[in-house]
Amino acid sequence: MANMLFLITSLMMVSFFMFDKIVAYDPHPLQDICVADLNSTVRVNGLPCKDPSTVKADDFFFSGMDKPGNTTNPIGATFAPVNVRQVPGANTLGLTVARLDFAAGGYLPPHYHPRASEFLMILEGSMEVGMVVPSLGYRLLNKTLNKGDAFVVPVGLVHYQRNKASDGKKTVAFAALNSQNPGLTVLANSVFGANPEISGDLLAEAFRLDAKTVEGLQALRPQ
Ligand SMILES: *[C@@H]1O[C@H](CO)[C@@H](O)[C@H](O)[C@H]1NC(C)=O
Ligand SMILES: *[C@@H]1O[C@H](CO)[C@@H](O)[C@H](O)[C@H]1NC(C)=O
Ligand SMILES: *[C@@H]1O[C@H](CO)[C@@H](O)[C@H](O)[C@H]1NC(C)=O
Repeated sequence: MANMLFLITSLMMVSFFMFDKIVAYDPHPLQDICVADLNSTVRVNGLPCKDPSTVKADDFFFSGMDKPGNTTNPIGATFAPVNVRQVPGANTLGLTVARLDFAAGGYLPPHYHPRASEFLMILEGSMEVGMVVPSLGYRLLNKTLNKGDAFVVPVGLVHYQRNKASDGKKTVAFAALNSQNPGLTVLANSVFGANPEISGDLLAEAFRLDAKTVEGLQALRPQ
């Protein structure tokens, strides 16, 4: 009986994880093109298609990926996505690309994308990328990437990027993600920046911190 229960629980967990994987990806397009009508107020899973007779080449076009991002900000980095918002023709295609700029010392804090894997390629400078794999006992896999190097971060894994260059050189990278809406969850914001706050006593207990430290971290929440 106990064995049976274990088996059922295991099967439920296996099917849960399989199901979870399947729904984590964007659905396949059902037509050649579905250029987003960005003005539509209709709410669907994605964006509705505009009248195909009004489709033009510019719906599939974007210019400006050569423009550096402004890295004068507290993290010294920018992530400029190009997806259906900028290119309506990308609607339903399960694609987002982005330009990343890092000043020397710039970084993207630990975060994950709930709906997309990320392919990263270095165009200029260098970068440390690191990701944590829960199924390997939360092992950190990290690597220094130089110009021409690429790295893949699987969907849902916590990762960070930073430019450790001591020579003051900036880093430029290109990223491709397999969702038109990859999502972004920044761990520190979810935990210490929730609005309203998660109870300090719970956070103190969960993170083995004293109440003062938790208060200090919560006070850093952007207003
Ligand atoms: C959406 O609205 C803007 C501004 O009103 C307009 O220029 C644009 O043509 C509209 N796009 C579509 C697809 O209707
Ligand atoms: C970059 O951003 C900073 C801070 O917002 C601003 O002061 C500065 O003028 C911006 N630089 C450029 C070139 O836009
Ligand atoms: C990887 O992380 C470890 C631990 O934080 C650090 O000591 C090491 O320098 C990092 N490796 C690279 C290639 O950045």
